Amino acid sequence: MPDFDEAGAAGAPLARDPGSKTAHLDACLTPAVDYRKSAGFERWDFVNQALPELALDDIELSTSLCGKELRAPLMIAPMTGGVERAHQLNLRLAQAAQRYGLAMGVGSQRVALEDAARAPFFQVRSVAPDILLFANFGAAQLAHGWGVDHARRAVDMIEADALFLHFNPIQEAAQGGDVDFRGLSTRVRELCAAMRDRGVPVFAREVGFGISADAARALVDAGVSGIDCAGAGGTSWAKVEAVCAKSERRRRMGAAFGEWGIATADAIRAVRSVSERIPLVATGGIRSGIDVAKALALGADLAAMAKPFLIAANEGEQVLATFIEDVLDELRISMFGIGASDLDALRRTPHLRDVSHSALLPAR
Ligand SMILES: Cc1cc2nc3c(=O)[nH]c(=O)nc-3n(C[C@H](O)[C@H](O)[C@H](O)COP(=O)(O)O)c2cc1C
Repeated sequence: MPDFDEAGAAGAPLARDPGSKTAHLDACLTPAVDYRKSAGFERWDFVNQALPELALDDIELSTSLCGKELRAPLMIAPMTGGVERAHQLNLRLAQAAQRYGLAMGVGSQRVALEDAARAPFFQVRSVAPDILLFANFGAAQLAHGWGVDHARRAVDMIEADALFLHFNPIQEAAQGGDVDFRGLSTRVRELCAAMRDRGVPVFAREVGFGISADAARALVDAGVSGIDCAGAGGTSWAKVEAVCAKSERRRRMGAAFGEWGIATADAIRAVRSVSERIPLVATGGIRSGIDVAKALALGADLAAMAKPFLIAANEGEQVLATFIEDVLDELRISMFGIGASDLDALRRTPHLRDVSHSALLPAR
């Protein structure tokens, strides 16, 4: 049974909606899917530098990943595709990514790999010719015989620069999906080697339960080109499955695991402790430019958001543009406040401290 694509979706006539894609979109527009626990960024504070010796306007946000230039260390996390409504959202998001020089991923392309008629609903290159774009499908499919052919088709389908392979055992188990993850390391190794020969980087990602140090070690050993540690504290995919469940038992199971997962701030540090060099994206509960700054100072190369971009894009092009500009301004001002003139300086900053043990005064 498929990951982000509901059983029975494949091969359904296009006039019929595959169901899970729009059900997930609707669920994710509500607070019912949010973790109660935090992504952990409030446990870290920047130490204010009153004499930054910088002009705010001179702060440089540009970076590069997978050989592509980005104007800011920000990514629109993989969400959707495959149906008309999802396509319209992806086009709006991709247009914004092109305008602001951001990276972007599309949602799981499984439906389109099984039903070619759905492929156009993932395509965004017409409005975003220059962005760093990630294809996407579930690693669990590798246990069912998927491999380099599917990966190549996913990448070609959307003219992607790289591939996200998502690992989501808890989501699968909560929804009664693919739960046989045996032998995956070997298959990931084979896929990474074959895609490396074709010049396509393969990044492993969680979907919001976090990558631990042990998992990161196994993935680095298997030869992934990068990791998105996608941790807990933002959208809970167990809660999404609970909201979208078709049976009371599945709803209970999703709800039971609603708070499962490694907080994103901890997942960043866990992955970085395994490899100083592996390109690292941080997703999960990133909600402001200050969170982006903290994620980078904790070891990430890029920060990504899903739900906040979904909400803004759903409101319209102008709301999305304002949201992105606010996030970038917050990032720039955070860097100003610690005297970091560029992202290298932010990543090496000595001005981040653990404040887990200091208490905030209760709100009055
Ligand atoms: C509507 C929606 C659909 C998603 N679909 C996918 C998907 O198909 N593949 C994937 O790897 N992640 C998917 N995700 C997970 C996000 O990429 C992200 O890891 C997660 O939502 C946590 O980020 P957030 O707290 O910023 O929402 C989806 C997220 C949303 C909101």
